[in-house]
Amino acid sequence: MLNIALPKGRLGEKVYDMFEKAGYDCQSIHEKNRKLLFENPEKDICFFWVKPSDVNIYVERGAADIGVAGKDILLEYEPDVYELADLRIGKCIMAEAARNGYIDQPQRTKRVATKFENIARSYYASIGRDIDIIHLNGSIELAPILGLSDVIVDIVETGSTLKENDLAVVEKIVDISARLIANKASYEFKKAQITAIAGALSNQAAEREALEKDPDNK
Ligand code: PRP
Repeated sequence: MLNIALPKGRLGEKVYDMFEKAGYDCQSIHEKNRKLLFENPEKDICFFWVKPSDVNIYVERGAADIGVAGKDILLEYEPDVYELADLRIGKCIMAEAARNGYIDQPQRTKRVATKFENIARSYYASIGRDIDIIHLNGSIELAPILGLSDVIVDIVETGSTLKENDLAVVEKIVDISARLIANKASYEFKKAQITAIAGALSNQAAEREALEKDPDNK
């Protein structure tokens, strides 16, 4: 049986729809309940809902053969997994943001509040900037408002959290989207099934993007 870790939440539902459209369905997942694990013995697959930032752990350790994780999580934790496809959903950016009117003082160590310590460290190392990381677990936007940090490094999707807190993007660091990942051993042992899924999901992602760019070309 192929074990598939889906990220719980809105993104996970979109991801499951892609699997279903590709023929890997599991009808019991539509039942409204608190179950976390759903099997379809006929299709030889089993889906389970996990916290989005835990998908990489399940896949790296082989509890899941494949899964879907955000590129932010993959960059931050660098799990030892294969990245098979960009699903082109859950799109957002990782950015440096600050209070409106913020002026950088390059001679001073920049205080950076973030959940994404490794992404921030490698970004500032790449531009040769001295920083002091302040690791927070959420509500990062508060840090510059309260003077805890000069800037934040965080995910920006619609931009409304920044806007509503009088903050703005200073620099985009990297584009983020959902990626299909595979456990390395599973990929060798279940190659046919996994590559078929990766191919079907990639095709769907490409078709969706083509349609978004040119809605008349159906
Ligand atoms: C994320 C991120 C931003 C927000 C960006 O937070 O950390 O706060 O979403 O989205 P927007 O640009 O569409 O406003 P999340 O909701 O995951 O909660 P968090 O505060 O726990 O990080």
